[in-house]
Amino acid sequence: MSLQTELQTLRDQAMTQIDGAQTLNELNDVRVKVLGKKGSLTEILRGMKDLSADERPVVGAMANDVRNELTDQIANKQTELETATLNEQLKSEQIDVTLPGQPAIQGQPHVLQQIIESLEDQFMGMGYQIVEGPEVEQDKYNFEMMNLPKDHPARDMQDTFYISNELLMRTQTSPVQARTLEQHDFSKGPLKMISPGRVYRRDTDDATHSHQFHQVEGLVVDKHITMGDLKGTLLAVAHQLFGEDHDIRLRPSYFPFTEPSVEVDVSWNPVMPDTKPEDIDWIEVLGAGMVHPNVLEKAGVDSSVYGGFAFGLGPDRFAMLKYGVEDIRNFYLNDVRFLTQFDQKG
Ligand code: DAH
Repeated sequence: MSLQTELQTLRDQAMTQIDGAQTLNELNDVRVKVLGKKGSLTEILRGMKDLSADERPVVGAMANDVRNELTDQIANKQTELETATLNEQLKSEQIDVTLPGQPAIQGQPHVLQQIIESLEDQFMGMGYQIVEGPEVEQDKYNFEMMNLPKDHPARDMQDTFYISNELLMRTQTSPVQARTLEQHDFSKGPLKMISPGRVYRRDTDDATHSHQFHQVEGLVVDKHITMGDLKGTLLAVAHQLFGEDHDIRLRPSYFPFTEPSVEVDVSWNPVMPDTKPEDIDWIEVLGAGMVHPNVLEKAGVDSSVYGGFAFGLGPDRFAMLKYGVEDIRNFYLNDVRFLTQFDQKG
């Protein structure tokens, strides 16, 4: 058999094998077997040395053609197999958009925020406006205008973080009373507001004290406001937060900005018509009173015409009572295991 015939046979066989290759591995085997260093084409070309000088270039050229043709064919087949593999893979990895997704963890309002928002809802329903005041407050508003002059002994209980002599982290939300009174135009109607927010004290943190906590201030000023209005309002708050069957109790107290002043307790247990007074457990939840004339006068309001009531309650305290939280610091640690227990959805 002449070398030409051998080359022709080799070409035809190799073409069939390339076409028949099912995988990239099989194709590679064919390539090595035919075009490799020890492959059949090399084998045939070894016979070239026995050819005449005339025949050699002819056979050489043919061998090159065969090599090129097979190389191209292998490359084509390789692309074909790779595309098929890729398509196969794409098909098997297709995304099923109808599969249920991974639920993203969703946050919720902080438990204190929940209490504040429910109070806001209730007071807005009673026609109050919600007012915000600055947490970095002037001595003037935090103390002086609330009837606590510089030498007032009640300041001792409210030591705080001072930024300068006149600037401090507010110790109470009461300064918002002074700020709102100053602005209010009484010719347009009564002033009814609540002001929730953070307050600060120089306290050593423990289970019931935090150097930062919350208050909701309330203030109503108009003509003919009585202590009965105060009591009715606070009873409505207790009912909505703790339940209709809870009662409140007012005890005389002292605050520089109210006269008379009261401390208000909520019954810890439900109070039925036949519940004996000695069977009621009372828990102190807020301070309140009738606005001191000095507070009105310092804010430019005529105390011979206007009067009102004020209260200050602690949502932290409310939340502790409502949910039986024993350590106030839990509210400020941002531990999700604690916080998710107050999931409104659940
Ligand atoms: N500001 C008082 C405090 O932080 C709470 C308070 C008591 C507010 C009586 C009032 C009030 O408006 O009338 O201890």
